[in-house]
Amino acid sequence: MEILDLRHFGATLLRPVLDCEAELWKKRLHWDYRASAQLLMQYLDNHMLPGYAAFEAERVAGYIFCVYEESKAVIGDVFATDAKPHGPALTQAIEEKLLRHLLELLINSPHIDRIESQLLLHPSGTHAATFREAGCRIYRRLFLMQPISAIWKLPELHLPEELELRPWHDHDLAPASRLIAEAYRGHPDGLINDQYRSAQGSMRFLNNIVRYSGCGAFAPAVSHVIVERGNRELVALVLGSRVSHESGHITQICVHRNYRRKGLARALLSVVSYWFMRQGASEISLTVTEANKEAIELYVAEGYTFTHSFDAAVWERSQQG
Ligand SMILES: CC(C)(COP(=O)(O)OP(=O)(O)OC[C@H]1O[C@@H](n2cnc3c(N)ncnc32)[C@H](O)[C@@H]1OP(=O)(O)O)[C@@H](O)C(=O)NCCC(=O)NCCS
Repeated sequence: MEILDLRHFGATLLRPVLDCEAELWKKRLHWDYRASAQLLMQYLDNHMLPGYAAFEAERVAGYIFCVYEESKAVIGDVFATDAKPHGPALTQAIEEKLLRHLLELLINSPHIDRIESQLLLHPSGTHAATFREAGCRIYRRLFLMQPISAIWKLPELHLPEELELRPWHDHDLAPASRLIAEAYRGHPDGLINDQYRSAQGSMRFLNNIVRYSGCGAFAPAVSHVIVERGNRELVALVLGSRVSHESGHITQICVHRNYRRKGLARALLSVVSYWFMRQGASEISLTVTEANKEAIELYVAEGYTFTHSFDAAVWERSQQG
């Protein structure tokens, strides 16, 4: 088996692997991977996707890719097909080989000072040893789900007098990025995704979700903000995306620390469920870092259950010996 630069390959050669991966996304997370696969295939055809392919007997058995954000590299995915003659052990070995190759390349690239990766599809532990070997820290993350019951009426909300709920508008991007940076100050998620640490970084995070459908198709009708009536400042928000015909996904929920424990997040969760239901979704999912105990408490209290766990890995040049 050869490990070759992904930019040598066009979409046609990768297609069977992506089809196989799409089946697993569907089965494991109820996620329709076809739109993401389509985007990847465009990048492949333009020979623009940095990464590697595992190539044997004239076919691609697996691939890995990353994207660059200034001096940070984000490993977006690693996947090997389990089509015959491969069994699960060989599939895992191919993925590990790809991962080692890419980590080695990135670590030996002096302009890269940080690597992040969240391999949502792969159960926690699958590639933890390979990441650790390279000097990465691992943070466990959880995937939760809830069936949407037929709530035909918009739930009655009991917001404080001075606050008002309204649907998301495009012009909320800048104030929302300020809210996210404030809500995540000193938060465990800032260790995993450094975009949360500044308003500028949060803006990149939001653009990816809202403008570029980086996590399913953004659902503006489902997404809501809570504002202060007086100054129109955002104090809380919830964003949703459609990840398949049956599934809605909450990509972001946060509340300004001055307004916590007043039931705002609970209200936003019920609003988002209602609008997903109105759009015909039958279930709703979200992810949360295991260390984020407050949020887990909230989701469990609201009826979400754990269905999957995965790892986030982070490498920082400044922390290597
Ligand atoms: C998690 C977060 C959204 C909760 O917002 P909130 O508006 O304060 O939550 P609510 O007031 O609606 O709380 C509803 C329930 O959640 C649980 N909960 C919320 N905050 C909690 C805390 N600090 N400790 C323990 N339980 C908590 C409780 O069960 C609470 O019910 P109760 O107040 O009747 O006991 C908020 O703390 C936040 O913005 N955190 C930073 C961003 C974040 O972590 N987002 C989630 C990422 S997955």
